[in-house]
Amino acid sequence: MKNETYEHIPTSVECLGKIREAVPSFLSGKRLIHTFSVEKEALRLAEILFPFLGIDRKYFSDISAAALLHDITKYLTPQEQNKLCKKYSIPVDEESRENTAVLHSRTAPYIAREKFGINNTVFGAIFCHTTGKENMNIFEKIIFIADYIEETRTHESCLKAREYFYSHAGKDMDLIKALDMTIIMSLDATISYLESTNSGIDSATIKARDFLLAEYALQRSVQE
Ligand SMILES: [Fe+2]
Ligand SMILES: [Fe+2]
Repeated sequence: MKNETYEHIPTSVECLGKIREAVPSFLSGKRLIHTFSVEKEALRLAEILFPFLGIDRKYFSDISAAALLHDITKYLTPQEQNKLCKKYSIPVDEESRENTAVLHSRTAPYIAREKFGINNTVFGAIFCHTTGKENMNIFEKIIFIADYIEETRTHESCLKAREYFYSHAGKDMDLIKALDMTIIMSLDATISYLESTNSGIDSATIKARDFLLAEYALQRSVQE
């Protein structure tokens, strides 16, 4: 068992209740269904991964909070997103200035912090849910991959990633390795798609993939 220690105060029951009640004021239709499905998937992943890492169940509330809030600025236009980036001095890659897929992940945690006083763990998980980043913690990894593989996703690469994780995790592969390999699959698919459409790729996405590739190349050479 690996041990990840968290000492922060988890999202309170009261705060989570307020968040859950408020989500439909930010999102509707398919996006609302997606949001609740991300929460369900993320909790399912936490149920498997937290005991393995020795993380207390009290932090499930952070998983729920991050999942419920991760897309709350999804409806805003790039102009509105950029206004928020200016207001909060949010760092955004040049490549992502017009990309709402990235911009909403950068603006959502700031709005969430202002409205609900979320802690830094929830903030971080929302911030990198689209791009990933180097050296993600387990909360960031869970929200990142739950967003990609939740049950209502129908894209082939999402279905493949979902099937990969649940068929390998804890069976022929260590849970964390299976999670990391699934994250690499999703990052690869995103990078290939962006390349095929001649779109800019956020540097965080490249760094996230390269970090994991290096981590496992290193582990393999250590084992050899
Ligand atoms: Fe999103
Ligand atoms: Fe999402």
